[in-house]
Amino acid sequence: MSIFERVAGKRICICTGSGGVGKTTTAAAIAIGLAARGQRVAVVTIDPARRLASALGLEQLGNEPRPVERELFARHGIAMRGELWAMMLDAKRTFDDLIALLAPDVGVRDEILANRVYQELSSAVAGSQEFTAVAKLYELAVSGRFDTIVLDTPPSRNALDFLDAPQRLTGFLEGRTLTALSAPTGVAGAIAARGSGMIFSALRRVTGVDLLDDLANFFGALGGVVDGFAERARAVDQLLSDPGTTFLIIASPDPAPAQEAIFLHQRLATAGLPFGGLVVNRVRVLASGRPAVDESALLADLGGLDELAAKSMQALRDMRTLAQRDTTNLRRLASELGENDPILVPQLDEEASDVAGLAIVERFLFAGSRERPARLAAYAF
Ligand SMILES: Nc1ncnc2c1ncn2[C@@H]1O[C@H](COP(=O)(O)OP(=O)(O)OP(=O)(O)O)[C@@H](O)[C@H]1O
Ligand SMILES: [Mg+2]
Repeated sequence: MSIFERVAGKRICICTGSGGVGKTTTAAAIAIGLAARGQRVAVVTIDPARRLASALGLEQLGNEPRPVERELFARHGIAMRGELWAMMLDAKRTFDDLIALLAPDVGVRDEILANRVYQELSSAVAGSQEFTAVAKLYELAVSGRFDTIVLDTPPSRNALDFLDAPQRLTGFLEGRTLTALSAPTGVAGAIAARGSGMIFSALRRVTGVDLLDDLANFFGALGGVVDGFAERARAVDQLLSDPGTTFLIIASPDPAPAQEAIFLHQRLATAGLPFGGLVVNRVRVLASGRPAVDESALLADLGGLDELAAKSMQALRDMRTLAQRDTTNLRRLASELGENDPILVPQLDEEASDVAGLAIVERFLFAGSRERPARLAAYAF
């Protein structure tokens, strides 16, 4: 099955996987392919390196989707029948927007946003990015502006963080900690009443900053948005497990990402989240049957250059060893995930971050099962 068949009828497609396997590249290539086939697509990327933004000719991807120029793809043989919109997640802005939306009035909104404790906290939370990614996803999904939204996931050390983050934040907001803190007689008040306020007043004298006031005001104001937050988090949970949502697992054939893909697959199943397919990227392809590169022809070509010939032969043999290992890892990964037809994308000679590279990845993702082997063979060693 091609990726097109796998995401058919889905409104949300989430690309998960461990660090550096090609989530951002795959998300962009899927969005390009769907838009080429007539859909109105938004791709939400989280790419601190901003490679995608520059590839798409959007030097500054804002916190709202922006249209991507059709001409960019025409040059690479892709005719855009639909629309491609792209945005790069600005976690802090998304968090601020959410507070603004949930605050009961403008006064509370401004009080929270201007509060120093909030600013610190939101940067810390925003730094983890996971919660804001789904918050933005939700906002775009309910807007009904797009046929499909493709979500890239943050470059976290652990792919599972992405699934845990919303629950962690909701847990914090709904939990006793916050209720205790935000009550009028909460912790901030208690600290002051018990005289530990001395520390704060000493601090205030030294720094000129009234931390205690900030803290008390912050939790007081936040009390007003907690219910909205919890409700939103529940709606997000529902959206993630909706049959209109699909999670793709992106992996590479290297042992660690492959192992993480297996864990991730188990986690999706336990959490009741819909798994849509496995994409294995950066595969070094082993030529089936006779080697794709003829050693004696290579030696003849390099005749007279013995040292170079020897080095080339060694590099080729190393590559075949790696390709052999990839094949073994790939089989194991596919069988662990119960996937008899994983989507394979070869290791390209160059980075895949420009439009030319994305166009190649798009072709592999959207190739049907029958045409894929022939295309892969072109990259075989
Ligand atoms: N098939 C491929 N062949 C060659 N280079 C690739 C391929 N796929 C991705 N790359 C390159 O590998 C790098 C990492 O890819 P990408 O940014 O998509 O990974 P990621 O999973 O999003 O990483 P992170 O976890 O840091 O967000 C990029 O420079 C990209 O161009
Ligand atoms: Mg990325």
